[in-house]
Amino acid sequence: MKFGFFDDTNREYVITNPKTPYPWINYLGNHDFFSLISNTGGGYSFYKDAKFRRLTRFRYNNVPVDDGGKYFYINDNGTIWSPGWKPVKTPLDEYTCRHGLGYTKIKGAKNGLEAEVTSIIPLHEWCEVQKVSLKNTTSQSRKFKLFSMVEWALWNAQDDMTNFQRNFSTGEVEIQDSTIYHKTEYKERRNHFAFYHVNVPVQGFDTDRETFVGLYNSFGDPEAVLEGKARNSVAHGWSPIASHFLEIELAPGASKDLVFMLGYVENPQDEKWESKNVINKTRAIQMMAKYDTAAKVDAAVIEMKHYWNNLLAAFQLDHEDEKLNRMVNIWNQYQCMVTFNFSRSASYFESGIGRGMGFRDSNQDLIGFVHQVPERARERILDIAATQFEDGSCYHQYQPLTKRGNAEIGGNFNDDPMWLILSTTQYIKETGDFSILDEMVPFDNDESKAKTHFEHLKLSFDHVVNHLGPHKLPLIGRADWNDCLNLNCFSNNPNESFQTTENQEGGVAESLMIAGLFVTYGKEYIKLCKYLGKKDEAARAEKHVAEMIEAVKQHGWDGEWYLRAYDFYGKKIGSHENEEGKIFIESQGWCSMAGIGMEEGYVEKSMNSVKERLDTKYGIVLNNPAFTRYYIEYGEISTYPPGYKENAGIFCHNNPWIMIGETMIGRGDAAFDYYKKITPAYLEDRSELHKVEPYVYCQMIAGKDAFKPGEGKNSWLSGTAAWNFYTITQYILGIQSDYDGILIDPCIPKDWKSYTVNRIFRGTKYVITIQNPSSVSKGVKEIILDGKKIEGKVIPLIKSDKKVNVQVTMG
Ligand code: GLC
Ligand code: GLC
Repeated sequence: MKFGFFDDTNREYVITNPKTPYPWINYLGNHDFFSLISNTGGGYSFYKDAKFRRLTRFRYNNVPVDDGGKYFYINDNGTIWSPGWKPVKTPLDEYTCRHGLGYTKIKGAKNGLEAEVTSIIPLHEWCEVQKVSLKNTTSQSRKFKLFSMVEWALWNAQDDMTNFQRNFSTGEVEIQDSTIYHKTEYKERRNHFAFYHVNVPVQGFDTDRETFVGLYNSFGDPEAVLEGKARNSVAHGWSPIASHFLEIELAPGASKDLVFMLGYVENPQDEKWESKNVINKTRAIQMMAKYDTAAKVDAAVIEMKHYWNNLLAAFQLDHEDEKLNRMVNIWNQYQCMVTFNFSRSASYFESGIGRGMGFRDSNQDLIGFVHQVPERARERILDIAATQFEDGSCYHQYQPLTKRGNAEIGGNFNDDPMWLILSTTQYIKETGDFSILDEMVPFDNDESKAKTHFEHLKLSFDHVVNHLGPHKLPLIGRADWNDCLNLNCFSNNPNESFQTTENQEGGVAESLMIAGLFVTYGKEYIKLCKYLGKKDEAARAEKHVAEMIEAVKQHGWDGEWYLRAYDFYGKKIGSHENEEGKIFIESQGWCSMAGIGMEEGYVEKSMNSVKERLDTKYGIVLNNPAFTRYYIEYGEISTYPPGYKENAGIFCHNNPWIMIGETMIGRGDAAFDYYKKITPAYLEDRSELHKVEPYVYCQMIAGKDAFKPGEGKNSWLSGTAAWNFYTITQYILGIQSDYDGILIDPCIPKDWKSYTVNRIFRGTKYVITIQNPSSVSKGVKEIILDGKKIEGKVIPLIKSDKKVNVQVTMG
C-alpha cells in the first residue's frame, strides 16, 4: 500500500494520506540552523547543536506520536482544522505534503478554504520561514480566524525534559508588535534569544501555554482556538509558547499570503539590551526584513532548488529503471548530505541529546557526499583526524560544537582508525588534492602535538599492526564495526552501557571484520604510498598486508565462509561449530571485498553461504542463527530479541558490503538484486509493512526471526546512505573516482542494455554511456573518448569547458 508518490520532476515525495504508518519527515537547513519537519507539521528546530541549543520543544516517544511542532489552526465559524491535518485531526477535503530538497509544502483544504504552508530555512540564514497561502475557492466572501503556535524549548534539550523544578520558574518572553521573543536565561549567561514573527499586524497573541491550550486540553483542541479568540497572555515561568492570532477576510476567489519567521539571534555582550531588561532587537528586525514578502520566500525556494541542482549535478544517471534514477539522482544523495549535517544526532529515532559524531561513522558518511561538497569534506577529515591519539587510536566520538573527543565514551574500538584511510583516499581520488596529506594535524586536539595528515594514516595502519592477537589477527578491543559484539565486556549490570563499561583485561578476542578491513584499506594505503613515491613504506605495508592475508587463510576460514571472530578465551565465533551465530555478514563482506583467498574460491563460497543462510526477501540478515539467550561473553549483540538490530536484523548499512563482494566475482545480477531489496523506492508499494519513509534508507529492517519481518526502523541517520550510494555508483554502475581519472568497471545485471552517467569530475563534465550488447555482467571491451579509442579502463583527466563524451562497450 502506498501513501503518496514520487514527483521526480520537482524532486519531491508527495504524501497524500496524512496517516502514514509512521511520521514521514524531512530536514530543513544546511548550515547552523536546522529543523525536522514531519508530514503533519510536527518536529523541532535547533541552532548548531540539537542538545545545547534546542529552540522549540518536541516530546519523543509521546502519545500520540509526533505531537508538538509548528502548528496552524483555522477556526472557520466553528469548524476547526489544521492544514497538516494534525493536531486538530478534522478530516480534510484535500491534503498533500510535498517533501522537497530543503523545503516542505503542506496543503490542506476544508469547505472551500485552502491553506498551504511552505517551510524553508533559506540558505545561510538563522531562521525558518513559513509562507502561509490562504485561498477562498468559493463564491461567497469568507471570514475566519487563524492561529499559529510554537512551543519554546528552554535551550538545553536534556534539561528541558527533566529539570522541571527550575524550568517552570525561568521562562520569559517579550512581545512587540507582531513578534514574540523568547528570552529565557538571556538576562544572565546567554547571549542569544529566539523569536516568532508574522509580517502583518495581529489581532492578538498568546505566550503562556496553559492559557492558550487549557490545563486539561491538548494541542488538538486549544481553548483559545475553540473560542476563536486570543487571550494576550504573557508567560511568566511555566511553559512559554508563541501564538499569533489573525482575523482574516477573503473575497470570493481571493487569496492572501502571510510570512511567519522563527529566528535565532546572538548579540555581542555590550549590545544585549535596548534598555533595562528590554532586549536589543535590531538584528531580529533586520532578519525579518529579509523575508517580509511572499515573493522573497518564493525566491528563497528557487535559490534552494538551484543549490540542489548544483550539488546533484556531479552525478546524474539516466537509466530505464525510474526507481533507480530517483534513488541515485535525488534521494540517496540528499540523505547523504543529511547524514553529513546531522551525523547520528537528531532524527525521529535519535533524540538529539545522545550521541556526538562517531569517528567511524563520520569517515564512512564522507564517501557519500565528498563529490558534492569536497571543501567541507576536507575540513571534516581534518577535524576527525585531530581526535586521534599519538599511537593511532582515537576517541570513538567527538562533539560537533567543540570538535573535541568525547571522554565519556572513550576509545579502543579497534576498527576506528582504519576508516580514516577510506575517507582520505576517497577525498583525494575525488579532488586530486594531495595537499591534505601535508596538513599538520594535532593529536587529541593538542596543537603542540601535531604531525602531518599522512603520518595520521600511517599510525592508523600501524594501530592494527601493533594490536594483533594469538592468531596474528587484529584484536577487537571494545568492539569493531559491530558496536554490539562486546567480547571483553562481560557485563551483568543492567545499568551500565556495553560500549563504555570497563573491559576485562587479558582477553585475546580477535576480529575477522577488522582483518578484512585492514587488507582492503591496507591495499589502498599501499597504492597511495606508491603513488607518492614512498617505496619503502609501501614495501613495509605490503609485508603486513600479506601476513594478514595469510593469517585469515590459516585461522579465519571455516570451510564454507569466513569466521567472525575469536572470543576472549580464543574460541571461534561465526563457525559451523557454534550452536547460534554460525555465520556473520561483516566478515563475509570485508574479507570478500579484500579478495582474501580469491584464488582458492573463498570469495565465491562465502557469497554462496550468504545467499543460502543470510539472504531473505527483505534483505540480508546480520547473523544466523539468531542468538536466543544472553551470552555474557558476546555482550550486547545477544541482548536484542532475535531478528532485531545487530542480532539477526537486516542492518542495511552492511548489505552493500555483500553487494561489493558479489561484484568482486562478477555477479552483477546478485549484487543488484540485493540492492533492490533494501532500497526504499522499490519498497514503496509495501509501505504499510516497511513503515518508514519510502524515499530514504533506514538503519534496520526486521529480520526473518523477528515478529514482523520487513518492518523498518531508524530511518535517515545511518551509514546505509553513504554505503549504498558508493556501491551503486562505483561498483555496480562502475564509475569510480581514481587518482588519475575515472575508472570504468561496471558489474551489472546481464539484461541491462545501456545507461548514461553525467559526471562532473574535477571540474569537467563527462557524459559516459555504457552499452552492453553481449549481455554480460562485467568486462569492458572498448572505451571511445571523444571519438578516439583509449587503452585501459581509466578515462584520463581532461581540462575542458565542453562536455567530454565517453562511449563504453562492455563485453
Ligand atoms: C550504529 C553505529 C555504528 C555501528 C553500527 C553497528 O549504526 O552508528 O557506528 O557501526 O551501529 O553496530
Ligand atoms: C546500540 C545499538 C548500536 C549503536 C550503539 C551506539 O548498541 O545497537 O546500533 O551503534 O548503541 O552506542
